[in-house]
Amino acid sequence: MHILITGGAGFIGSHLADALLDRGDSVAILDDLSTGSFENIQHLQENPRFSFAIEALRNSLALDRLASQADAIVHLAAAVGVQLVVKHPTETIETNVLGAHAVLRIARRYRCHTLIASTSEVYGKSAAAPFSEDDDLLLGPPSRSRWGYAASKLLDEFLGLAAHREFGLPVTITRFFNTVGPRQTGRYGMVVPRFVNQALRGEPVTVFGDGSQSRCFCHVSDVVRALAALLDRPAVTAGQIYNIGSDHEVTIIDLAEQVIERADSTSSIRYIPYQEAYAPGFEDMRRRVPDITKIRAAIGWSPICSLAETLDDIIACEREKISG
Ligand SMILES: NC(=O)c1ccc[n+]([C@@H]2O[C@H](COP(=O)([O-])OP(=O)(O)OC[C@H]3O[C@@H](n4cnc5c(N)ncnc54)[C@H](O)[C@@H]3O)[C@@H](O)[C@H]2O)c1
Repeated sequence: MHILITGGAGFIGSHLADALLDRGDSVAILDDLSTGSFENIQHLQENPRFSFAIEALRNSLALDRLASQADAIVHLAAAVGVQLVVKHPTETIETNVLGAHAVLRIARRYRCHTLIASTSEVYGKSAAAPFSEDDDLLLGPPSRSRWGYAASKLLDEFLGLAAHREFGLPVTITRFFNTVGPRQTGRYGMVVPRFVNQALRGEPVTVFGDGSQSRCFCHVSDVVRALAALLDRPAVTAGQIYNIGSDHEVTIIDLAEQVIERADSTSSIRYIPYQEAYAPGFEDMRRRVPDITKIRAAIGWSPICSLAETLDDIIACEREKISG
């Protein structure tokens, strides 16, 4: 298969490129390097089945050229991360909504199976965890910037499913829960890389809020395995939404303690109020747990990596980076 990955120089995209090339697929990447990095894909340059264009999604000529050769598109390019979203709400909404719109239009032209990356953020403030794909969604008001990210991704889902219903385009929606692993950057507020870096440098590990909020962390290798399997089954997965994540729940304070212990660190834990970490009136979800029954039934996928293995992997990579 020939697969176009938008946002392929990013964290998930670069791991997906590795996995698809490893199994014999051809991969093209379109990425503007806004949050991704050339370093993530540099090692692929010599592979004859790999190509890339450092371009933004709004460059429709580049998108058209790459899509015309593709059997499938994995649309990962987006403005990502809560801090970025709170800081640049207009850019976030435009990149996410106009980006998905552009990708779906081109996908229709070439009849490409299209995977659209969405997020667990669309479940919003719902307290009905574990979340299933058909659950009602409970977003906060537009006066709070952070919901602009969820709303923009939700609109992407509507656009994708509309293209499937109206034009028969095979579109699959993937709702990622917290995905972690090597190459993820802590610059935009992602909790695990931030904790690991703080612990390895012996700095206080900064927990936002009281730390009793919980999340489920899934190793990127598990997420990439799910994406590759979904690409193999367009007939089964088209028109569907799938949660992709681990269902092992951990509180943020427990996560901070595990990181400190596994990194052999002497760091202390410092609590930072949400309004200081983000903006006044910031709303966080208490729990975010996926129900993964649907994807398990469809393609037999469930995560393999434990949280301990995942943290050890990230700690080892970050330690190597720090020591140069
Ligand atoms: N990592 C997670 O836990 C998580 C959770 C939920 C959803 N997601 C979704 O998964 C996708 C990938 O996320 P990630 O964690 O790999 O983030 P990332 O920031 O590493 O990847 C996004 C990539 O898109 C590129 N990009 C952004 N805007 C672009 C544009 N206009 N044109 C071209 N390229 C552009 C960036 O340079 C980057 O390489 C995103 O759509 C994100 O919303 C990720």
